[in-house]
Amino acid sequence: MDKLLIRGGTALRGEVAISGAKNAALPILCASLLAAEPLYLSNLPQLRDVSTMLRLLEQMGVEVVRHAPDMVSLNSRGLHNPLAPYDMVKTMRASILVLGPLLARHGDARVSLPGGCAIGARPVEQHIKGLQAMGAEVNVEHGYIHACCAADKGRLQGACIVTDMVTVTGTENLMMAAVLAEGETIIENAAREPEVVDLADCLISMGAQISGAGTDKIRIRGVERLHGARHSIMADRIETGTYLCAAAATGGEVRLTRTSAAYLDAVVDKLLDAGCDIVTERDAIRLKAPARLKAVSVRTSPYPAFPTDMQAQFMAINCVAEGSAVIRETIFENRFMHAVELIRLGADIRIDANNAMVTGVERLDGATVMATDLRASASLVIAGLVAQGETVIDRIYHLDRGYEKIEEKLRQLGARVERIR
Ligand code: EPZ
Repeated sequence: MDKLLIRGGTALRGEVAISGAKNAALPILCASLLAAEPLYLSNLPQLRDVSTMLRLLEQMGVEVVRHAPDMVSLNSRGLHNPLAPYDMVKTMRASILVLGPLLARHGDARVSLPGGCAIGARPVEQHIKGLQAMGAEVNVEHGYIHACCAADKGRLQGACIVTDMVTVTGTENLMMAAVLAEGETIIENAAREPEVVDLADCLISMGAQISGAGTDKIRIRGVERLHGARHSIMADRIETGTYLCAAAATGGEVRLTRTSAAYLDAVVDKLLDAGCDIVTERDAIRLKAPARLKAVSVRTSPYPAFPTDMQAQFMAINCVAEGSAVIRETIFENRFMHAVELIRLGADIRIDANNAMVTGVERLDGATVMATDLRASASLVIAGLVAQGETVIDRIYHLDRGYEKIEEKLRQLGARVERIR
């Protein structure tokens, strides 16, 4: 099991390129199931979750051709096995995103229930409820979701769907199911995340008729079939925010390229409140940190408010900021696991239900800590970069799921970090 060894205490300086967004790539890879012609994707991040999704699609019969490190084409002309098996789904919950497209294209799907993960139970009843509203017959038994189009219909039927809460992959699954349905589908209370918009843009380039993506009401008019297309994955706003936090916490100055601040207003506002100088360019963002950050409180909420995927990183920077801050997590029920690990590094954090009270300390001291989930791992990296001495982070396969070449990119910014195999 790989570990990351970090010798902290150096400010991050320099320039690094941001990769394509994991949470846009995953649903867009599943969109290839909807057309019997090739979908060419560029700016695809080289991540464990992306390779898992490619393997999942290949075992269904999708032909995957890699044209460059960040470019693949997928052709589901030979789709023959509409199954997402447990042993693959258990390593990546986003596998649930094959359900909608398989139903729409193939009329039948068996997808293992994703099950929970470190940050919460992660139920998928909204996905199922929406598909049933579109006429799917869904049975959940032996840990699998078995869905098929009603025999007398043959195709999904357009419907008006209101999700009980904002769900990102729920919105994405239902949007993909609706593009080949009979008639019009309206999704109310839809997720407004930029990754939902990137998926919609890709589907529209494949011939889908979608309006309202990025608002809380998405309208999809079903068409007979979709055709092949070319799409470039949007930049990863969470990777961008993570490197901004690392530079802010270490008192550094960085320029992040192939990205923008466009979808990070809430995060940029909080970094400005913390005392950072930020300059946004057309496809880059620069941050210069103060000698010491001021503590900033954050409350996570669906887009465009402060993203839950940046909560752990902000807890880390508050550990060494001046003053106290409250971090409130409103999306997931168990997303504070990084707190106990940060406390091992000397942080002063008190948890009360979904609030974490963080009081900044003068310094953190290196220690051995354990990664528990993707963004918790990122917060431990930030803390390790700040801590005096050596920090060893165990179980960094969590990091590899969502951060491409993280030690190379950090070294490019002057960090003293190495992977121990
Ligand atoms: C997506 O997860 C992201 N993953 C998550 O990123 C992100 O944290 C999350 O959205 C919130 O922004 C991908 O896009 C692949 P939700 P998702 O459905 O879609 C509850 C990362 O670090 N809910 O928006 O699974 C759910 O339990 C990952 O990259 C139901 O109760 O999240 C949660 O409390 C982590 N029933 C809330 O809604 C449902 O049917 C939001 O979940 C669906 C969701």
